[in-house]
Formats: sequence, C-alpha cells, structure tokens
Amino acid sequence: MIHISSEDSRQIFILETENTGYIFQVTRFGHLEHIYYGSKLANYDLDGLRRKRNVVIGSSIVYHADDPLYSLDIIPLEWSGIGRGDYRFSPAEIKMPDGSFVCDFLYTDHKIHEGCVPSAELPTACEGENNVRTLEILMEDRSSQVEISLFYTVFEESNVISRRVVLTNRNPSPLTIRRLLSMCVDLPNRNFRMITFDGGWIKETHRHDHMLQYGMAVNSSTTGGSSNRHNPGFLLACSETSEDHGEVYGFNLVYSGNHFGCAELSERQLVRICIGINPHCFEWVLNHGEHFEAPEAVMTYSSSGFNGMSQNFHGFINRNIIRGDWKGKERPVLINNWEAHFFKFNQRKLFRLARQAKKLGVELFVLDDGWFGNRNSDHAGLGDYTVNRRKLPWGLSHFAGMIKKLGLDFGLWFEPEMVNPDSDLYRTHPEYAVVIPGREPTLGRNQLVLDLCNPKVRDYIVSSVSQILDDADISYVKWDMNRHISEAFSPYLENQGEFFHRYILGLYDILSRIFGPRPHILLETCSSGGNRFDLGLLCYSPQIWASDDTDPVERLHIVSGLSYLYPLSTIGAHVSEAPHQQTLRQTPVSTRFNVSCFGCLGYEMDLKYLSSVEKKEIKEQIAFYKLHRDTFQYGSFSRIETGKSNKVQWQCIKQDKSTAVTGFFQTQATSAEAPDLLRIPGLDRLLRYNVRTKPQRLFIKRFGGLVKHILPVELNPGGLILRLANRYYALTDCVEHYNVGGDTLDEGIFLNDQFMGSYYNPQTRLLGDFGSNLYVIELEVQQ
Ligand code: GLA
Repeated sequence: MIHISSEDSRQIFILETENTGYIFQVTRFGHLEHIYYGSKLANYDLDGLRRKRNVVIGSSIVYHADDPLYSLDIIPLEWSGIGRGDYRFSPAEIKMPDGSFVCDFLYTDHKIHEGCVPSAELPTACEGENNVRTLEILMEDRSSQVEISLFYTVFEESNVISRRVVLTNRNPSPLTIRRLLSMCVDLPNRNFRMITFDGGWIKETHRHDHMLQYGMAVNSSTTGGSSNRHNPGFLLACSETSEDHGEVYGFNLVYSGNHFGCAELSERQLVRICIGINPHCFEWVLNHGEHFEAPEAVMTYSSSGFNGMSQNFHGFINRNIIRGDWKGKERPVLINNWEAHFFKFNQRKLFRLARQAKKLGVELFVLDDGWFGNRNSDHAGLGDYTVNRRKLPWGLSHFAGMIKKLGLDFGLWFEPEMVNPDSDLYRTHPEYAVVIPGREPTLGRNQLVLDLCNPKVRDYIVSSVSQILDDADISYVKWDMNRHISEAFSPYLENQGEFFHRYILGLYDILSRIFGPRPHILLETCSSGGNRFDLGLLCYSPQIWASDDTDPVERLHIVSGLSYLYPLSTIGAHVSEAPHQQTLRQTPVSTRFNVSCFGCLGYEMDLKYLSSVEKKEIKEQIAFYKLHRDTFQYGSFSRIETGKSNKVQWQCIKQDKSTAVTGFFQTQATSAEAPDLLRIPGLDRLLRYNVRTKPQRLFIKRFGGLVKHILPVELNPGGLILRLANRYYALTDCVEHYNVGGDTLDEGIFLNDQFMGSYYNPQTRLLGDFGSNLYVIELEVQQ
C-alpha cells in the first residue's frame, strides 16, 4: 500500500507491506526526510517518530536563513547531494553543467504507478503478485535543470521495497556522473552490526559481522563482476539479533557488475546506507535530454531475526526475480561430468556415465568444458564453439540424441564471455578481446575477456551460441565466466569510464537475446563457482553454481552464507568424490548428500568407481530427494541455532506445513559429547508429528581398527576381506523415531547419545567427524 497524506501542505508518504512500514516526508524546503522503517504500526504517530531539531549544531551549515535549525547534515534523508551542508557520503557525485559538483535535488511532484516500472536496459524485479505499486518522486536541482526520479516499488506480499533512480539532464550543457548510487536512506543507529558475505574462490559467502563505528563500512567489488570477494547483499542487525529474534534490515542490488554498498555512522547516530554501481573507474557523460538509470536496489526488514529477513528475500526472489518457464518449477537432478573427467573424455566415457546416472535416477546429463575446438586443457580453444570430433565423432546433436534416448535431458557448458589467445576466434578477431593497444595483457586462467561493449562481439556470441542450442536438443545451459576483468578498455567506447557498466549491459543484452526466445532452457550461471551470484543474473538464470567447492563441510559455510540472501531454489549443489579434490577431506556419502539436498541437487563424480552398496545409497538419496524436492527447493528455509560450535542445522518446511526436513550436521567430533538437542520450530504447535531419520548406510571402513572388536573373527582392517566386504555390505546407521507435539518440537527433543567408545547398541548415534542425519517430520495422520 502507498498512502499519501499531507501536513502543512507537505506530502507524507507511507509505504506498507504485509509486516513493514516505511515513511518519509517532504520538508518545507523540498528535501525528502526519512521518518521510519520498521514493523508495520497500527498508528504512525509522526510527532513521536520524527527526529527533533531544537538545537543549532556548532560549525554546521544552515541551509536557509528562515530556519536556523535546518542543517542537512543532521536530517535523516532519502537522498542527498553535495555542497549544501550535508557532509556525509553522498549517493551522487556529479560534475554539473556549471562545472561544479554542487547539487541539491528538491521535490517537484510524485506519481503512483500500478505494478513495477521496468528499466529500459537493466533487469528489474517483476510483479509476480497482485499487490505491487510504485511511487515515483520527481526532484529537480533548480539552478541547473537536472532532474532525478526516485522509484519506490512496494512488494507487499514479499515485505520488500525496491528503490532506483533515473537521472535526466535537461540542461543544454553536458554533465558528468562520477557516482550515482541506487538508493540512500538514513536510519537511527541501534547498535548495528553490518553483516557481509565475503570470501574468494572455493570459499565464497562466509558470513562476517562488523560492529559499526564512526565513519564508513564498505562492501564493494571492483573485479568487473559482483564477485566472490563480497556478495552485493549485506545486512544491518541490532547487536542482540539472532536467527529467530530481533531486528534486521537486508539490502541487495539487482546488478552483476562492480557494486558498492556502505553504512556510514555519523556523530548524530544516524546510519546512512547506500548501495549501487561502484564509482571505481566510473564516469558517464549525459548530454542534453539524455538519462542514466541506476540498477534497482532492494531492501527488507524483519523483527523476527535473520530467518525472518531471509524468508522475505526468499519469497521475493522466487516470486519477483525469477521469471520465465522455470519460475516456481522443480529443478532436475543432474549429473555433471566435470569432476569425473575434466578435459579427458570421449563419447564412450560420457555415455557410460550417463547410463549409470540414469540407473540411479538422475534426470539431466550435463556435458561440461572440453567438448569444442581444441579444448583439451584450459590453455586453448575457448571461443571456438565447434564440436571436437575426436571426442564426439558424430557431433553434438547426435550425442544429445543418444542421451535423450536414454531418457535423460541434455545440458551443455559454455564460457561465451572469454577467449584463449590460442584459439581460432582470437587469431581471426584479436580486436574482440579486451586489451589495451601497446600494453601486454594480463591473463586469468590463460584467457582474455571478450569486449561485450562492442555490438559485433555480442552478435558473434549470440549467433554462435544460439546456433548450437538450436542444432541439438539442449534443455539446460551452464554459462561460465572464469576470470576477473583487467586492462578494462574498449576501442568501441569514447569514454572508458563507461566500460564496466557497458560490459554488464552487454551481458544482459546477450542473455536476453539468447534465452528470451528459448524459455524452455534452464540456465545455470557460474563464474569459477560463486564469483557472480547476484540478483541481476537471477533475472535470467533461475539457478547459479554456488561454488567450485563441493566439500560438504565447506558448503555448510558457503550455503549458510548464501541462504541469508538467496533461496535454495537458486543454489546449485553437487555431491562429489571423497577425499575431496580441494580439501582432501574424507566425508561419508550420506553427509555429502545431506548437505547438497538443501539446494538444486546434482552429482559430479565418476560413478564407475562406486561400489554396489554406494550405488544403492545414491539411488535411495535421489528417490528421497525427488519425494521432498518441493520442500527442499521451495519450502520455508531456516538456519537453526544449535548452541554448539561443532553443529550446523538447516531446515525446510513444506508450504502446507505437513512435512519438514531437518539436516543435523556435525563438523568435528568431540570426546564424550554432551547430548544433542534437535529443535524444529515453525510447525503447528497444537498438532502431533512423527520424526524419523532418513535411513542411511554406515560403511564398515568408518570403523577402522574397531571392527576387530565387533566381529566374531579378527580381521585386518585394511585387508582384502574387509575391503571387499565394504563394497557389498554396510550397516544401517542409527534409526531414530519420535512422536511428539509441535510445541515440543519447538522447544527441542534430545537425540540419542553419540558413540564414545565405551558402549554400542543400534540406537547409538555414530556421527564422528563430518557425520550427519536428515530427520523427516510428518504430520501424524488421524485414524
Ligand atoms: C569453472 C567452473 C567449473 C567447471 C570449469 C570448467 O571452474 O566453475 O564448474 O565448469 O570451469 O572449465
């Protein structure tokens, strides 16, 4: 809802979602003063909510002689310029037509639009529900005829408000934008922590909490993409906020390029939050009549802790960001051949993998890197998308046909934004690559970036990829991007300050031209794993490969981090081999699955080395996943606090609350561990539920030398007999069953004790390092 009222003929805007309220007003001089963002209130007593101005702050600038108490520096604002007395960080730095940096945007008018107001060039959230309205506030810098429109779109059901700004130059002289962020808001400080999701390759989106101090805390990327260093999304939480209690604000950006987010704590205890395109190397000239659109920022608020905030974002993304045929649709279980083969494969190997995968219940076969040109390592061939006939002698369409006949869908990997210097594309069109004439280019993974600012390059990519997609029966594409941008330069541009933004606009143009007409294709984007996991790409690709790291213990951190901002339906999660290829960690196949089922499940391993009992285990895993797929992908997800540093618990509740699945993970075993409490909040407190472990196998090799004591005969733990037995036989892992009320589940049930070497019976839980269980909670059926 958008309510507009007025006080002394000045407008007050109240934006309401189901649970939140957001208020600002026009001041007597025309600025937008922020009043409130928080829980929806029955009565908004503005006199109470408004900050008071009864003192003159020494050394401050008085905006107007009529009001000595009006200094922009101390007013909570919705937008701010430069040079009129506000010395906090400005969302805009513009070299104005008069050559100065001084700008002061004042309210002129407003409009209400039904639904969203889409951007002409950038992806923005879409309606996806009925109650969406947009408030447009028009403002002008009166002495220069430069205008801005601030758009506020209210997504009631999702509890999200989005913001973006469009700047128009009506002055006959040009202006230069050096920074134009998408939003600005000043909130009263509540002892805030800023929470960011940071990392790098194979360790993306680890949560970090920073107590806000005077000055600015910045969350930004300059790599050319939204980056694995700092995801664009960040949170501001009160110091006592936990997963289920307390207040938290979430911010994110519908953009895939260099981003910049900041929280600045001022001496008046106001926190200014801005987010938008990173001003790093950015410069954009606007001539008379031209406009510039900043990407859309999104914000949410919850008073029920981090989980409440995450659930707002999850609903919003599933409803208002994901679009096309795959919106709300269950994602297939896939096998990807990358970790099984890397570049060394032929049709026989691929087909064998597909056949085995089909037997286990997989639905989609994905052929990863190495199928084209001279691509036998990462040194050559990128850019040449003609099938490598040595590997696939009868071509791609024939191979896709074979896979289809097996009963699997077929998916293909591309890395269309890149080129190897050792490729036919580079030899024919060296001018397509991002290089600076006369300067030696720097490489990343032996490759150069293609110049997406150049329309000819975009046309080349669109036509070469489209041709392949149309020639073979392809229902899934993995779109990769494996390096950061360096030597940013395009001969196509007059102003290199446009490069980074034009690159991303080029990417969006390519994606919409390729996948717009082919909505049946499920697109999964990837950038060395999660180097570009953002809302911009989610507008095109319903799922994103979260990380090249598939070690389940590492994934507990990575997916926990991502889950603050993104729903599980968007997160690609694969079971791979153990010991893990990057960490050398040995983990049970049950835990690898128990972690990966919280997301879009895939397998990425050579199935031919699996023992028959491991195959049985995987077959059952896939059947289990299919049974609960809608709960895992679209259920209500929470991170449950366990009170122990060596435990992680995740939970998904089916939308109708009839079923839930909880994953209980032990990272490191501790000696004589005290009992574990399993809390399952969120179900109906008055109804009864059955809680059962998902059956899983316990492999004999987990016991090492201990087997001597449990078998009637003494056998060498590393000997042939036990190694053979391990291939054909496994024990049943501890089975637990509890019948309890929803209120008891809310408080928590004590689980069976863990093994500690002194006693064992079939009820003992044998977790050890990296052990885990899934618990299925089902509503008791009344007889
Ligand atoms: C990147 C991706 C991997 C795989 C390889 C192929 O590293 O993240 O999943 O596709 O490229 O080269």
